[in-house]
Amino acid sequence: MSETPKFKVTVDNITIEVPAGTTILNAARMIGGEVAPPAMCYYSKLKDSGGKCRTCLVEVSKGSEKDPRPMPKLVASCRTTVMDGMEVKNITSEKAIDARKGIVEFLLLNHPLDCPVCDQAGECDLQNLSYEHGNEATRYEFKRRTFEKEDIGPYISLHMTRCIMCFRCVYTADQLTDKREHGILERGDHAQISTMLNKALDHDFIGNVIDVCPVGALTDKTFRFKNRVWFTKPLDAHRDCPTCSGKVRLWMRGEEVFRVTARKDQWGEVEEFICNECRFHKKEAKDWVIEGPSMIARSSVIAQGHYAGNVGTKASPILIDKVIGKQPKFLMDIHEVSDVNKPNIHLSEIEGPAHSDDFNKK
Ligand code: SF4
Ligand code: FES
Repeated sequence: MSETPKFKVTVDNITIEVPAGTTILNAARMIGGEVAPPAMCYYSKLKDSGGKCRTCLVEVSKGSEKDPRPMPKLVASCRTTVMDGMEVKNITSEKAIDARKGIVEFLLLNHPLDCPVCDQAGECDLQNLSYEHGNEATRYEFKRRTFEKEDIGPYISLHMTRCIMCFRCVYTADQLTDKREHGILERGDHAQISTMLNKALDHDFIGNVIDVCPVGALTDKTFRFKNRVWFTKPLDAHRDCPTCSGKVRLWMRGEEVFRVTARKDQWGEVEEFICNECRFHKKEAKDWVIEGPSMIARSSVIAQGHYAGNVGTKASPILIDKVIGKQPKFLMDIHEVSDVNKPNIHLSEIEGPAHSDDFNKK
């Protein structure tokens, strides 16, 4: 069998070799950090996902070694495969940053600003995206879309006004269950997620639509309005489950299990899909073997007040040098002005939280 040829691709001044057929987004993810474009609809575990939301737009400043012409328009990085010698700009492209701002505004056109009452707040991809790439105010003056409330069963709550039409839940139901009961009805701004006949979604694995939904359109009815995610403590746990891997994340407050979800990786994607039994019916600590605190990005609101299990932010200072092609200009070097910090220790680079050994003892 012949080996897949390797292509050289440069994303934000960082060059990497990837197998032919890799998308720009996945090549950027291999580099990691801020270089990876945000993705609201692409989901590596779901076949055919991507190409719906346009948050992953990037600028291709050189098409390939053979044809170095730049691509005339920004391209969706989740749907465009790399060519040998391709050069891509993501955070170094003003055009891409500006377009992303527009996309965020577009996604928020009809989205209600109900984060204070939404169960997804604190772990919502749209909330994070708008903090990082959005404007502080909307220019939209018209009435927002509204929908008839639809009951889709005892486990999952559908809040259609929050949906961004990413199709992830449809692919999940299609690829994980043998009989899909819901889909997208209508077209244009009438398009909506629906079961058509008010059917209940009750397949063994259907709970996974909650985890893949990037916004609060599909939420867990058994957790609804019970707590805010940042007050709960995420713990990795497992059980011997006959249906799924049984590897989950428990969201606990004190001794109480408030919610069970699948574990997510650094891109916010489910590592292994879990069954409804684990998710909705095993809500006691004694049902689980607890492994320890989940790794949560330090930048996440969920990490606040949790001293174990925090991992560094996505941006690596080493990477930033390479991206901008020079040492970043600091307004102030803390080591020069502080007696407290040890000059050889960079607090943002140490693993886990800082403690007394990391500071000068005087
Ligand atoms: S309900 Fe959620 S997962 Fe489904 S299309 Fe809407 S935003 Fe995407
Ligand atoms: S992530 Fe690429 S279009 Fe949505």
